[in-house]
This record gives sequence, C-alpha cells and structure tokens, in this order.
Amino acid sequence: MSQTKPNDEQSISLVTELIGLPIENAIWNAAGALCTTEKELHNLGQSQSGVILSKSCTLDPREGNPLPRYWCSERAPFMTINSTGLANQGYKFYGKMGYQLSAEYDKPYIISVSGLSIEDNLNIIKELQGKCHAIELNLSCPNVIGKPQIGYDFDATQDLLNQVFSIPELNTPLGLKMPPYFDLTHFDQMADIINQFPISFITCINSLGNGLIIDPIEEKAVIKPKNGLGGIGGSIVKPIALSNVYNFRKRLNSKIDVIGCGGVRTGWDVFEHILAGATAVQVGSQLVEEGTSCFERIQKELKEIMRIKGYLKLEDFRGKLQSM
Ligand code: SIN
Repeated sequence: MSQTKPNDEQSISLVTELIGLPIENAIWNAAGALCTTEKELHNLGQSQSGVILSKSCTLDPREGNPLPRYWCSERAPFMTINSTGLANQGYKFYGKMGYQLSAEYDKPYIISVSGLSIEDNLNIIKELQGKCHAIELNLSCPNVIGKPQIGYDFDATQDLLNQVFSIPELNTPLGLKMPPYFDLTHFDQMADIINQFPISFITCINSLGNGLIIDPIEEKAVIKPKNGLGGIGGSIVKPIALSNVYNFRKRLNSKIDVIGCGGVRTGWDVFEHILAGATAVQVGSQLVEEGTSCFERIQKELKEIMRIKGYLKLEDFRGKLQSM
C-alpha cells in the first residue's frame, strides 16, 4: 500500500472560502471572458473553474460595440485589448440561468452587473435577489461611450453604494469590480468608502482603460470602437493588478475579501496574487486565448509550486509577501 507523503499533489488543497462558502478551486473566470452565452456558462460549469461568473449584464440585451473589438497577437502575446461595450443578453437571461446552473453544477454562480445608470443598477440588483450566490457590481467598464468608469468618481461611488445598501430586500452577497488605481491616496480614499459597507469582496482589477495598440505595418489601431481605445489586459497588467490586490488587502477590513484579476497565465501568476493577499484569482485574457482547459493546467502548475515549497493550502502563503 502506498503511503501519501504530506506534500503529494493529492494532499494539496486549492480550497478557498468566499461569501461564506467553501469553493473547491480558488481560480475562475473573469467577468467578460467566455461567459456571455448559455453554452459558455455551461462550459464553465463543466470545467475546473471554481465559480461560474457571468458577463456583466445590463437591463436590456446589448449588441455591444462594432467589430473588431478584441485583439491579441502572437507578435505581442503579453497584451490584449478589448472594447466589447457590454455585449450581453440582459439581466433576465443571467437570472434565469441561475436555476439551470445550480441544478447541474456544484459550484457558486455569480452574476456580474453593469447597469448603465444608478436606477438600472438598483433595479437589476433587486431583481436578481435569490437568483445567484453573489453579485459582482462592475464599477469599472471603460468601453461604453459616454459612460465614465464610476470607480474613478469617489462621490458617485459613495452615492451608489449608499443606495445599493438601502435596498430593503438585499440579501445576496455583493462584491465590486474595481478599476486599477495608481496613487496611494486613491487607495486610501476608496478603501474608506468600501469599509463603510457590508461588501463581501472586491475584484482587482478590471482592464487598464482606454489604452491604444497600434499596428505599425497597417498604420492603424487594432480595434474599431472609440478610434482604437480599449481596455488593456494580459501579462502586461500584472504588476498593476498585484499592487491593487496588495494595497486594498492592507486597507480593507478583514471581512472583505480581495480577488485578484490581471495578468494570470500560469500557476506562478496565481501564486503571486495569493502572496499579495488574494482570496481567489480570476483569469481573463488567457481564458479567451486558451479556452476552459486553462483552469486545469493552471491548477496543476500551482499545486506543483506548492509541493516544491512545502505548502499544503492557500492560507500557508496568502498575504505573506515579505519585504526586502
Ligand atoms: C466590455 O464589455 O467592454 C468590458 C466590460 C468591462 O471591462 O467591464
């Protein structure tokens, strides 16, 4: 009979706890990455993704921005640009999917919400109560023309959260999808706002808004919407994502989890996010490029890193980044 060594792969756990639930795998999709259609949501259910997270939804279905609106190239595999413009099937579709997905898959279903106005957000959040395990309210979509990223307007964020947390029927856990911040004062100010509310988690970060990637051969931008401006993702954003996870983890009360998102392609990337303080990690660009098999590969890589380092669970190194 073979004896299990303490650092065998089978004895290493990637379980994490979020919204009061144990989640088998601390790695799942970012909102927007292969999670818009019924088929894509089922694919996530069947994959090793720890959670099924929907595309950000609006009150009504949207076609989104003109094509091409996503770009990734072998010439620059470390960066992507997207300007989907919140193409989605409307909140009712994602609400209905909750029943189907919960019946078929033993993992939480989170709906990302990105209403086009405060009223839309309040109505959608009200209507989705009881239809999912949590809501991730998107404060940071950079791609809808004429709609600024609310997370960069501190007064508007305070006002929105005051109104959300005054919804009498609110009982579904609520998280926030944050834009990237770059100034320490902004971390202080935003953390002061978030700490006032019973927010379950924040996700750091959405794409770096309004970047521009140029094809120098064609002398053109690589996507069509907004004259080529779009959200930048991929490995290039990882240092910013790690800093946002680290800075918010230091400032938020311990009941609020921080989910890392940005530049996750390998097990090492997940390891770094968790070391910076992340409770779990989302995969965006790499999921779009590789498909849902990326979850199994990344988990395997992470377990191998943990085995070599002698870690058995994520708490063994979560938030334990050392200073030089
Ligand atoms: C989009 O639909 O344009 C992206 C959504 C987001 O970045 O929040």
